[in-house]
Amino acid sequence: MSDIAETTRQTTLEPGKGTSHGLPVAVLLEVTHRCPLQCPYCSNPVELDKPKAELSTEEWVRVLNEMADLGVLQVHFSGGEPMARKDIVELVQAATDAGLYSNLITSGVTLTRDKLEALADAGLCHVQISFQANDPVLANRVGGYRNGHAKKLEAARHTRAVGLPLTVNAVMHRQNLHELPDMIDMAVEMGAHRIEVANVQYYGWALKNRAALMPTMDQIEECNRVVAEAEERLKGVLAIDYVVPDYYAVRPKTCMGGWGRQFFNISPAGKVLPCHAAETITGLEFDSVRDHALGWIWDHSPALNLYRGTDWMPEPCRSCDFKEEDFGGCRCQAFALTGDAAATDPACSFSPHHEAVFKTAEDESATGDTRFIYRNLAGGTPEA
Ligand code: FES
Repeated sequence: MSDIAETTRQTTLEPGKGTSHGLPVAVLLEVTHRCPLQCPYCSNPVELDKPKAELSTEEWVRVLNEMADLGVLQVHFSGGEPMARKDIVELVQAATDAGLYSNLITSGVTLTRDKLEALADAGLCHVQISFQANDPVLANRVGGYRNGHAKKLEAARHTRAVGLPLTVNAVMHRQNLHELPDMIDMAVEMGAHRIEVANVQYYGWALKNRAALMPTMDQIEECNRVVAEAEERLKGVLAIDYVVPDYYAVRPKTCMGGWGRQFFNISPAGKVLPCHAAETITGLEFDSVRDHALGWIWDHSPALNLYRGTDWMPEPCRSCDFKEEDFGGCRCQAFALTGDAAATDPACSFSPHHEAVFKTAEDESATGDTRFIYRNLAGGTPEA
């Protein structure tokens, strides 16, 4: 363990001992923003990090070792598309050597059998593949990638064939919610252990496509019913994680388990972020692993400390009985919807903005607009 990391350990207090954060449990590594897909709900920032700004192999390996020293247990290799990094096997091997559990979060379209075998040999522990629909035409239109769905199915087959556990990430919205029962069946058929039924969250690029993605209230009620029925029917077969859409929620989600409390992200260029969307909050400066040791950043970064714990909270959060449960909800959503990242998350029924947000959801869901704004096609629609 390095001296810096040892100092960090001594100065990072356990939760419940007079501090708002303890040791981080898991880290999302956005190793690149490059991606062959163009999902209209992409959570990466509107301004992407350029490839030449990405951390080098040596920098990522150093950071992986610093993470292990800091007490991190799990790393999630994500992006963009992590398979776009030529050194992905080397990075997974470095995580394994550092004693970290590793998960690959991928679109699957470039995940060949050979690559999967090399990743498994390097100690990869888990694979998560995103699916845009069950119907290939719809799936390829949403992802903006010709023949992408077939490639994903193949990657899922290879994942199970090499013996790695698989999670299906099903991102749901108005244009594919009718396919949810089929997507759950698809996950069972491919031998997945888990499915994330994740309704779209509206930050980053997704905000541009909100009107084309926003589900109706009827769809959400049907989605609740389908998930409840599947949870009962598939006990012991398929675990289901369910993310409800914020705009129709009553209570806010405990975003990231609380800002700077248990998790952090590292951007392709090395910025340490409290969540994947934090760069959408204008005016915040995030420290980089190129300038500081990770342990120093975790404890001392002004951006990580800004909304930690409960002292920063305005009313009605400050006197709310749930403030130690939801930690004020989502700062990125508060900023996107009110222009103030310190405001009460409008997903909360106690927020003065709650009714207006609910009405926005109702109005946009009724537009019938199906056109997507893609990142690279100036609004055109890719062929299926
Ligand atoms: Fe940033 Fe919720 S996504 S705090």
